[in-house]
Amino acid sequence: MMETQIFAHRGARRKAPENTIPAYLKALETEEIDGLEIDVHLTKDNQLVVIHDEKLERTTNGHGLVGDYTLAELQALDAGSYFSPEFAGTKIPSLDEVLTFLQVQHFHKILLIEVKTDHVEYPGIEQRLLDKIAEYHVTYPVIYQSFNLDTLQRLHDLDDTLAIDALTYTPRWRLWKLQRQRVIEYIHPDNRWFMNKIYWWGKHPRTRPWTVNKKAEMRKVFQAKLPGIITDELDLAVQLRKEI
Ligand code: G3P
Ligand code: CA
Repeated sequence: MMETQIFAHRGARRKAPENTIPAYLKALETEEIDGLEIDVHLTKDNQLVVIHDEKLERTTNGHGLVGDYTLAELQALDAGSYFSPEFAGTKIPSLDEVLTFLQVQHFHKILLIEVKTDHVEYPGIEQRLLDKIAEYHVTYPVIYQSFNLDTLQRLHDLDDTLAIDALTYTPRWRLWKLQRQRVIEYIHPDNRWFMNKIYWWGKHPRTRPWTVNKKAEMRKVFQAKLPGIITDELDLAVQLRKEI
């Protein structure tokens, strides 16, 4: 059985502003991680942009919805000062910039792309995303995930060879249905309810919980030999995985 794969949630968000190039650079410094997780939205001018929230307030000096601004407007914002003055002026990256960065880094891990259509609608984002990935001729594995199961179905309908996983806060019958239909491969459950069910889930081979940050909980995931863990605590995860 393969060892549990470690995914860096929004980059190394303990060390740099989440979902920015510095956060991805820091994540790659922890060489033993297996994948990088990023979140994508669509701008007013139909560009793919990488940021977690659909609103700008928490991580930038902007206001309102990401989708109400053009890429140029979003890139004029400061997405680093909220984290520390050291990162003042850090930009919200476009997906192009992230893919170019990964190319330059000779990235050969897994890119886990979350399509952020759970709180807002971005008509056409699925096709835009697949076109962008095709444009870069990426050679590393790409996994698509979303809380929005319609987004996942649309991705599958566009290309039934894609690796697609479902994010969920709670168990939902439709997840298992989509898994049986081979629309999705893995289920990525919220750690907060998942941990109570770890024994049961441990028997379920296609599960990667998020966001597992506590030592005892990480240990459980590694001991259960689940296929993956999505975490903010990259160094700790790498260390604990070695100890199991
Ligand atoms: O990869 C799992 C995780 O990113 C889902 O939650 O809210 O951090 O995007 P969130
Ligand atoms: Ca995410």
